[in-house]
Amino acid sequence: MRIVCIGGGPAGLFFSIVMKSARPDAKIVVLERNRPDDTFGWGVVFSDQTLGNIAAADPPTYERIAQSFVHWDDIDVHYRGRTIRAGGQGFAGIARKRLLRILQERAASLGVDLRFEVEADDEDHARADVLLIADGANSATRRKYAGAFGTTLEPRRNRYIWLGTHRRFDAFTFAFEETEHGWFQVHAYQFDAELGTVIVECREETWRAAGLDTASAEESIAFCERLFAPYLGGHRLMSNAKHLANPWISFVQVNNARWFHGNKVLIGDAAHTAHFSIGSGTKLALEDAIGLAGALRRNPELTRAFEEYEAERRIEVLRLQNAARNSTEWFENVARYASLEPEQFAYSLLTRSQRLTHDNLRLRDRQYIANIEAWLSQRAGARNPVPPMFTPFRLRELELPNRVVVSPMAMYSCVDGTPNDFYLVHLGARAQGGAGLVFTEMTCVAPDGRISPGCAGMWREEHVAAWQRIVEFAHTYTRAKIGLQLGHAGPKGSTQRGWEEADEPLPDGNWPVMGPSPIPFGERHQIPRAMTRADMERVTEQFVRAAGMGLRCGFDMLELHCAHGYLLSSFITPLTNRRTDAYGGSLENRLRYPLEVFAAIRAVWPAYKPMSVRISATDWVEGGITPNDAVEIARAFDAAGADLIDVSAGQTSRLAQPVYGRMFQTPFSDKIRNELRIATMAVGNITDADQVNSIVAAGRADLVALARPHLSDPYFSLHAAAQLGYDEQHWPEQYLPGRDQYLRNLRRAAQIAAEAASEVTK
Ligand SMILES: Cc1cc2nc3c(=O)[nH]c(=O)nc-3n(C[C@H](O)[C@H](O)[C@H](O)COP(=O)(O)OP(=O)(O)OC[C@H]3O[C@@H](n4cnc5c(N)ncnc54)[C@H](O)[C@@H]3O)c2cc1C
Ligand SMILES: Cc1cc2nc3c(=O)[nH]c(=O)nc-3n(C[C@H](O)[C@H](O)[C@H](O)COP(=O)(O)O)c2cc1C
Repeated sequence: MRIVCIGGGPAGLFFSIVMKSARPDAKIVVLERNRPDDTFGWGVVFSDQTLGNIAAADPPTYERIAQSFVHWDDIDVHYRGRTIRAGGQGFAGIARKRLLRILQERAASLGVDLRFEVEADDEDHARADVLLIADGANSATRRKYAGAFGTTLEPRRNRYIWLGTHRRFDAFTFAFEETEHGWFQVHAYQFDAELGTVIVECREETWRAAGLDTASAEESIAFCERLFAPYLGGHRLMSNAKHLANPWISFVQVNNARWFHGNKVLIGDAAHTAHFSIGSGTKLALEDAIGLAGALRRNPELTRAFEEYEAERRIEVLRLQNAARNSTEWFENVARYASLEPEQFAYSLLTRSQRLTHDNLRLRDRQYIANIEAWLSQRAGARNPVPPMFTPFRLRELELPNRVVVSPMAMYSCVDGTPNDFYLVHLGARAQGGAGLVFTEMTCVAPDGRISPGCAGMWREEHVAAWQRIVEFAHTYTRAKIGLQLGHAGPKGSTQRGWEEADEPLPDGNWPVMGPSPIPFGERHQIPRAMTRADMERVTEQFVRAAGMGLRCGFDMLELHCAHGYLLSSFITPLTNRRTDAYGGSLENRLRYPLEVFAAIRAVWPAYKPMSVRISATDWVEGGITPNDAVEIARAFDAAGADLIDVSAGQTSRLAQPVYGRMFQTPFSDKIRNELRIATMAVGNITDADQVNSIVAAGRADLVALARPHLSDPYFSLHAAAQLGYDEQHWPEQYLPGRDQYLRNLRRAAQIAAEAASEVTK
């Protein structure tokens, strides 16, 4: 087998090592345009897991790398004159030059044909069995076949410069400095006995405003030395890319729909990039090399081997790219977090990728978490330090005992809108379960405003009595507060119950629906009647009447449902609002009717009781609502007197292409909360207490709503309190023996796990 590898970076070299070890008869040539010692980076970092993978793939390489590593445990965050340190992070750094030297020597010792200072062209090697495209993020070979690979390149918003220094950092160091042009940040770490890497980064517009776009390398370095002098201890910064006209780079997100084409296969940065702020580019390159060599070893048939390689590696790459995207966005939006206190700023930074959670940080540094919990608790007015999810929260006169909310969930079990015993038990059990706030489902303001015939309502006198019974139960027997979500289904009305053909019209007995424009939600849906001014006034009155009835029921809080494609949401999104009057067109116009409804309700809802608004922060559709629009929507409702924005997403169009994942909507809440400095609630695939703690502690939301987790466990918060050792949680007195047994069982399970762990280590 003859393999030609274009590019002698970590990917190409390590592939040649693993492949040549497994198939000594293979003829492998690596072509590198630079000299062996040229490299334009400084250091790279690896996690213990990556080191384990290298050790398993090629022990001699691992041993030499391990001898060269500088280890460190702490992360320091320097921000607004404070330094926050978090320990137990476990990194290992190595000079990129040293890493390449080790890989080059190992490859040469195995008989790989390494040729330097060769500008490779794939056409000169068309007859090779395998042509490895390992020429980095800027790959010219990939560019040539961009159509076949389905390449997409997404330049990001920041500029960065990669420098070196003799300053010896004793921790992975992040430093933030604000200038008149915007924020600059440093990512710095030591990678050998003498040298450290310093990456300076800022927004493109900040870079231009500071004149760095026209600065020489020397001027840029001098600028960085001045700005970050407090962290450099008198040491200089050095560049090894002075040959470039401007050493500031834009990170480009590289993706390829297909990783191979004929005998050509992409690997490392040529195939995909992951932002340097999660330090995983070299890891991915080395692991690709292991994956590809393994697939070629197992499959004599080339296409089969490439398919297996791509299938195996794509999932891991996607996982890391998702984390890297969150991290990239964090560093692109430092100004958004600049209002946070240093404690929360640092926590937000540490958890920016949403992969590292509160529990992970506790395992790494117990004291760091104790400090942040004490700080958050004191700020929230808790008597003692408590886990973040159990800190109290206040909205107007409403005191919530903790941050957990039972999200609104339609149960489709009413007759003529009247909540029956199912609702008493369902909402009652969830109120007993320890959440701070329980929401009713979308309670419809009129019979023709229902989603389905089973939906809950608030338009008849008997609804008041039925809801009152539920509210009284919550107030009498639990510490939970109870909120009423009011809505009107609009164009998504007259559909089947959730467990039937959800969101599809009734088989018969449909009632007429209306919306901003005559645009049906789906193929089988009715065409809604475009609302007249009289329709709008009537519906506003229905909302006001329902709010008044809700007040008589004793609800603590009111939420206006402006999400998920229902009536008010269908006015906001341009996908369903094509009106040419004052209620269509610009976002300002599309918001006009929802804001009118909000103002009318706010006028009758007492000033001491809070109101929230649920919005869809994106339509997940090209041309629909974007997260930037969502900030404007939230701003408008905030100005109208909303106390909290409940940040959901989507469900406004059948064309939506949502990107699911754990806590996938939380970044929208983070954006709205921290750009506008207003209270928000996060929701969507938040499934455990650890995630709730992380979201609250990082200031990504003030409240956290869980829907489906509360269907499988009404006692979610009671269980979380017991698991976290939070003993001030109120349990219904009647259930105290159950609590005691649950705690005993937890202790017993922990003991068994500890015994099993010590058996393994014996
Ligand atoms: C500022 C910054 C900091 C980073 N920090 C880290 C970190 O801490 N940890 C980490 O894991 N990763 C880090 N990375 C990412 C890391 O550098 C890359 O992900 C990694 O080097 C990818 O390896 P590769 O072999 O695919 O590509 P590269 O390392 O880019 O290697 C490609 C090689 O191909 C050669 N080449 C290109 N075209 C030709 C041609 N036509 N003929 C011959 N040779 C050619 C190039 O000279 C180069 O040597 C960082 C990246 C940047 C930009
Ligand atoms: C059965 C069910 C019914 C729902 N009904 C409503 C509703 O009436 N109003 C609303 O705003 N959201 C409703 N939702 C959406 C949830 O409130 C929540 O936003 C969504 O399920 C994501 O949260 P989760 O991942 O915790 O389930 C419903 C969700 C489910 C599962």
